[in-house]
Amino acid sequence: MPDTQSYLDIEGGHRLNGEIPIYGAKNACLPIMAATLLARGASHIENVPRLSDVFTLAEVLKSLGAKVRWTGDHSLEIDTTDVTCLEPDPELVNKMRASVLVMGPLFARFGQAMIPMPGGCSLGKRPIDLHLFGMEALGGTIIENCNNVVVKNTKAGRVQGNEMELRFPSVGATENIMMAASLAEGTTTIRNAAREPEIMDLAHILTSMGAKVVGAGEYVITIIGTPELRPADHRVIPDRIEAGTYMVAGAMTGGKITLLDVCPDHMTATVEHLTRAGCSVTTDIDRITVESPDIIRPTDIRTLPYPGFATDIQPQFMALMTKAPGQSLFVEKIFERRFLAADELKRMGSDIRVLENCALVNGGQKLKACEVTAPDIRAAAALVIAALWAEGSTRISGLVHLNRGYEDPVEKLTNVGARITGHSPNRINHKEARVFK
Ligand code: UD1
Repeated sequence: MPDTQSYLDIEGGHRLNGEIPIYGAKNACLPIMAATLLARGASHIENVPRLSDVFTLAEVLKSLGAKVRWTGDHSLEIDTTDVTCLEPDPELVNKMRASVLVMGPLFARFGQAMIPMPGGCSLGKRPIDLHLFGMEALGGTIIENCNNVVVKNTKAGRVQGNEMELRFPSVGATENIMMAASLAEGTTTIRNAAREPEIMDLAHILTSMGAKVVGAGEYVITIIGTPELRPADHRVIPDRIEAGTYMVAGAMTGGKITLLDVCPDHMTATVEHLTRAGCSVTTDIDRITVESPDIIRPTDIRTLPYPGFATDIQPQFMALMTKAPGQSLFVEKIFERRFLAADELKRMGSDIRVLENCALVNGGQKLKACEVTAPDIRAAAALVIAALWAEGSTRISGLVHLNRGYEDPVEKLTNVGARITGHSPNRINHKEARVFK
């Protein structure tokens, strides 16, 4: 069901200037929350973004018997002492694909996990075969039904460390295997592992919990398992996708934006492509400033696993390239259906042709405001970026998607000069996820 009850009205044409603080990374926080299941007791996580995806995973953990409570505005305590249920609530799992991350911890600690087939954004076919391949390699028996999959340790004792090579460096599969391998007997080697910064952050908490993880962030990760892990305290890394989104928003409006509390080392591909587009980007230890020219240069984008250009920032760049006079070619190498923003951007007057996993943007036309609907999380961000520079006032509905990845976007953008009003039922009823502060 499309979400038409919540919307933003964005008046375009105002340059963004100023500082925007960046919160913790959703994609690091979710596996870290799942990792707390590996140990009995209370773990504490700092720099947790208040996003609906985080809230959904908290509910998934509660459905297993964990106690989850906010101990501060961005701090969570997760107590897994009473976890006994090994089947997360299917309705919750259907809401969000990342719920599959509880599989590895449950399988390794309790010897079994039953996972309903996960949901998430509509980005084409998103199988979990690599997750299952990893669990099988660690000694699991897989029983697949039409609606769920059971992973079982049928042998006596702990799950078994093993060597394996992934056919694709899946982020989620690498994380699930790392978590299960932390409680395995012996050593696990994952070749062609994902190298994202979020993998390194997960390795940090697993190390604090007592596992030995070597090579996170590289092609081969080695995990030496331990019979028991302990709860840990951890601070989540900054969100490189949230930061990249605001950098592109600043560039779209020809403004000057400084992102605070970021890790520039995680953002080299975004910085490189903004520089190619004509922006001047300066970095400091924990901040990045983007100063933008009036005329953006066309720039080709090819998404790749990290350290390549992130698929999660591709739709935002597509919005930016509608402003660049000339042709920009987009090649999407990670997901099947990641040009969902294109149709809505076309409704605003852009010239974009999509053929399979390629899109050609003929940029340079002025975008015109109209009513658009966000089809997924990053397309929602792309539409906000387009609206910030379009002529007139654009109404964007489908804020449920924006809620999944951005905390307080209205406050953050209006603080630097955007003119945004809107309506969200979540504002009153759903304190955990907030578009508005
Ligand atoms: C994570 C991120 C998501 C990001 C994506 C790619 C989280 C919570 N989400 O998603 O924001 O866009 O990485 O950077 O961290 N695949 C398979 N079999 C599998 C698993 C994946 O074929 O078992 C395929 C997928 O269909 C997709 C590709 O691998 O085409 C990438 O998926 P993956 O890296 O697993 O992404 P997620 O972990 O789901």
